[in-house]
Amino acid sequence: RRVAILISGRGSNMTALIEAAKAKDYPAEIVLVISNIAGAGGLAKASDAGIETATVESKPFGKDREAFERKLHDVLVAHNIELVCLAGFMRLLTPWFVKQWEGRMLNIHPALLPSYRGLHTHERALADGVKIHGATVHFVVPEMDSGPIVMQGAVAVHDDDTPDALAVRVLGVEHRIYPDALRLVASGGTRLENGFCKTGNAG
Ligand code: GRF
Repeated sequence: RRVAILISGRGSNMTALIEAAKAKDYPAEIVLVISNIAGAGGLAKASDAGIETATVESKPFGKDREAFERKLHDVLVAHNIELVCLAGFMRLLTPWFVKQWEGRMLNIHPALLPSYRGLHTHERALADGVKIHGATVHFVVPEMDSGPIVMQGAVAVHDDDTPDALAVRVLGVEHRIYPDALRLVASGGTRLENGFCKTGNAG
């Protein structure tokens, strides 16, 4: 499976996916990294790893999200991309774009969905006093940080945790589960069927 990773920032999840995909038996090949932010830190890391990169800036399009996405879509299609991984891609996608990649686009979110959608997940988890926190890989649907869950990983919350300390431990989980989730989806072992995430042999 030919995979593109969409980023906006440092790209540590991107790096975890690139590293995992080096394994001989890995069912996906990372062929392209696209950033919507010029000069995003992850772009240099991807180039260093020998992966083709592209920048499709969202800023010039302002509020015209679909115009930005049509350009993004064209780049993906031109590279024969089959699966898209959002990895710290800080841009809401329209229903149109989501439809183009239905069942073929994953996102990682730093919380145990459906809890803590959106930003500042670690601060909010600590403020609520939850004892378990974590990360989720899910298929992308039009609603933000929603969609059928492919995989989750949990960490215990410590009494003296800070948002930063918790973020570091959750990030460790993210780097473990995203490659595993992509492996499942790229191999066809897990797929989207009638809006649900199904695991098992196809057919
Ligand atoms: C990760 O925590 C991801 O879950 C989130 O944004 C962060 C991106 O980090 N939505 P990185 O760019 O993968 O290092």
